[in-house]
Amino acid sequence: MRPPGRRDVPTARPALLLLLLSLLGAPRGVGAGVGAPAELRVRVRLPDGQVTEESLQADSDADSISLDLRKPDGTLITFVADFKKDVKIFRALILGELEKGQSQFQALCFVTRLHHNEIIPSEAMAKLRQRNPRAVRQAEEVRSPDQLHMDIAVNFSQGALLSPHLHNVCAEALDTIYTRQEDVLYWLERGVDSSVFEPVPKTSEQVELPHCGQAGDRGKPCACRYSLSLAWYPCMLKYCHSRDRPTPYKCGIRSCQKSYSFDFYVPQRQLCLWDEDP
Ligand SMILES: *[C@@H]1O[C@H](CO)[C@@H](O)[C@H](O)[C@H]1NC(C)=O
Repeated sequence: MRPPGRRDVPTARPALLLLLLSLLGAPRGVGAGVGAPAELRVRVRLPDGQVTEESLQADSDADSISLDLRKPDGTLITFVADFKKDVKIFRALILGELEKGQSQFQALCFVTRLHHNEIIPSEAMAKLRQRNPRAVRQAEEVRSPDQLHMDIAVNFSQGALLSPHLHNVCAEALDTIYTRQEDVLYWLERGVDSSVFEPVPKTSEQVELPHCGQAGDRGKPCACRYSLSLAWYPCMLKYCHSRDRPTPYKCGIRSCQKSYSFDFYVPQRQLCLWDEDP
């Protein structure tokens, strides 16, 4: 029998397989990749049990993080956290069913205020590495879902005034970039120009719109809902204690999963196709 050695010690809990490298004392500007975004590819289990690949990119110079996730139905979900502007952007590229006469894809962009405790800082994200890239990761914490009423449109041509990421991320969405009144008030206070925002629907009629799923006429406006889930993202830093160090130090991350559902105005029910199937 082999004597127990170091190799027999089970390798910690799965969370510890993700390490924050050299958070302490590593001088900036040393090594490769400075200035270039760092990418981490992780395999994640979706809420429905299927496994997909997620890509997380951090750019510590731009102070931003982006996350890409392809759902099994082909939908591409992109999430961008812009810490400089307190903006987060969600984009969904939804594949159409060509045999039903739908266009190739439909793009939606939702922009809301980023709070800094929602996700780990970009410089920590840039230092994240994994020991086992084949491991299928499941979030340690399921955060309570957000339901957001998107009542303001963002003018794409003015979008750079809100966040420099908007032009890249929302280019396919153009007329379907939405945000919320309460977030707009916050950004206006921070000096963002009001020309970025327009109320929707543009007509001031305050009628309760029917939900698209219940609306009869395909050509009539209705209230559409789109839901998405960030299956796995680093939401908090973990701290460890060591006898060799006087204070706790950053040694890993806590992972979270969170769902968002967005309610927004569409001028025609046919722009809300996923609400059709019961
Ligand atoms: C967006 O803003 C530009 C510049 O202010 C303006 O010319 C344009 O009409 C706006 N677009 C819409 C759809 O309101």
